[in-house]
Amino acid sequence: MLSEELKISGSFTEEVINDRLSICRFESISCTSSFAEDITRGLKQVPKVLHPKYFYDNTGSELFEKICDTPEYYVTRTESSILEKYSDEMALMNKGKKVIVELGSGSSIKTRYILSSFIKSEGCITYLPIDVSEIMVQSSKELLSEFEGLNIRGINGEYEEGLEIINELTGDPKMIVFLGSSIGNFTPVEAKRLLSSISNTMSGDDSFLIGFDMVKDENVLNAAYDDSAGITAEFNLNILQRINTELGGTFDLSKFSHKAFFNKAMSRIEMHLVSGSNQTVYIDKLNEYVEFRKGETIHTENSYKFTDEMINDLAGSAGLNVNKTWKDDRNYFGLCLMSK
Ligand SMILES: C[S@@+](CC[C@H](N)C(=O)[O-])C[C@H]1O[C@@H](n2cnc3c(N)ncnc32)[C@H](O)[C@@H]1O
Repeated sequence: MLSEELKISGSFTEEVINDRLSICRFESISCTSSFAEDITRGLKQVPKVLHPKYFYDNTGSELFEKICDTPEYYVTRTESSILEKYSDEMALMNKGKKVIVELGSGSSIKTRYILSSFIKSEGCITYLPIDVSEIMVQSSKELLSEFEGLNIRGINGEYEEGLEIINELTGDPKMIVFLGSSIGNFTPVEAKRLLSSISNTMSGDDSFLIGFDMVKDENVLNAAYDDSAGITAEFNLNILQRINTELGGTFDLSKFSHKAFFNKAMSRIEMHLVSGSNQTVYIDKLNEYVEFRKGETIHTENSYKFTDEMINDLAGSAGLNVNKTWKDDRNYFGLCLMSK
């Protein structure tokens, strides 16, 4: 029997936690088989590759928060400073919108600036954070105690899954936000596809606020993804630990090392894990042996860096217009407000 608090609606279930908070979940999120299939496919590819969304188990999400505090990782601090300065103006430009949807909300720390300004402007708003990580559920509970005028319907799932159901959850004008330069994790083709899905979800009254990490001095970029305290290295290696824990892998983490560098021709930071020796790893739940040569890499993440031209081209390719861009004094980071 289902409890009264559990509503089933097509592809997702909605757990009502209290009168201000509910969490929608998709079956795929609790499903180890898609994780296993993706890992099998990725480790059989040449060169080997793992999808960055798999960084974010509980440990990975905690490590990401620590990366944000490293002196080298300018991204979070810079974007925060822009939001702190301009979120009132953002709310003013979005007068009448009482719904904020966020892709990859994580801890929602920076989003607090936006929520606060919109609540000040609108009185009461509804927040729909979408994230594969459970961190979203915890941070939603914290947000409720911080903001009186806030209702939350969290979506624990993939970006695309969340986008498919947001118009079922609300018919009101909304601003969709995608912070933290997460768009940089997508190849140009994938980024165009995601922005097109976002654009298709939007009505003429909706807007889209998206963060872009700009091209800058290579040394600044390289340091940001290879901090001296080794936290980004730990974050990168944690994906192997996750395979060990969830799929019965035998990765010896001391036999792999973190490598990150700016690939100028592709305008992206690449993160890899490098095998320190010839070795074989067994993954029990996949019933697979994976061979590594000394020096062979697993490509774990791209983080594309943008110019204004690249941003305009990407927006245009998805049927979106850039209405306003806010940047910091060093031009390190840009937040763009787009509409259809
Ligand atoms: C780099 S963190 C950014 C968090 C936060 N937005 C910020 O700017 O600090 C990326 C977040 O997106 C989530 N995420 C990554 N891939 C995802 C996907 N395909 N679908 C939904 N969430 C995803 C992760 O769990 C994580 O919380």
